[in-house]
Amino acid sequence: MMTHEQIALVRKSFDRLRPLPRGAGKDFYDTLFALDPSLKSLFSTDVENQGAMFVVALGLALKGLDDDGVVDESLRELGRRHVLYGAKDVHFDTFREALLCMFAQRLGPEFTPEMAEAWRAAFDRISAVMRAAAAEARK
Ligand code: HEM
Repeated sequence: MMTHEQIALVRKSFDRLRPLPRGAGKDFYDTLFALDPSLKSLFSTDVENQGAMFVVALGLALKGLDDDGVVDESLRELGRRHVLYGAKDVHFDTFREALLCMFAQRLGPEFTPEMAEAWRAAFDRISAVMRAAAAEARK
């Protein structure tokens, strides 16, 4: 479970990425592919587009952190689509690490250890919903 403070930290750091969602998204994918080059072949669109989609989807998911229900259904659908994209459970850990690196790069010392910890919790919450839906869809 995330605390209200953690949810506030996650939203605050996310807001600091503005007004550059494309830049942040591209940085994220550059880091992701550096961590695991084998992931590149799964993507057909360019990193800027993909990055922008990822950042927007993440922003929507943040809304659901203290308001379960509506947002979770769209996350479950996103999780089910990811079965077709070839996403595996282990890839989510690589995504989480790339996300933390991206924040550290872009926010520098403003990205505090408390923010990093809050992001770990938020990402795990979001990916748990996606992975559970993906597991159901694979059956
Ligand atoms: C919190 C985690 C994630 C979020 C928010 C997210 C978000 C998205 C979004 C919004 C799209 C656009 C297409 C759609 O809406 O269906 C997408 C596509 C995609 N995602 Fe993710 N994703 C996440 C995790 C992952 C993971 C772990 C992988 C594993 C490799 C992955 C691989 C892909 C691929 C391959 C595509 C399709 C790219 C293409 O068609 O070229 N995603 N993702």
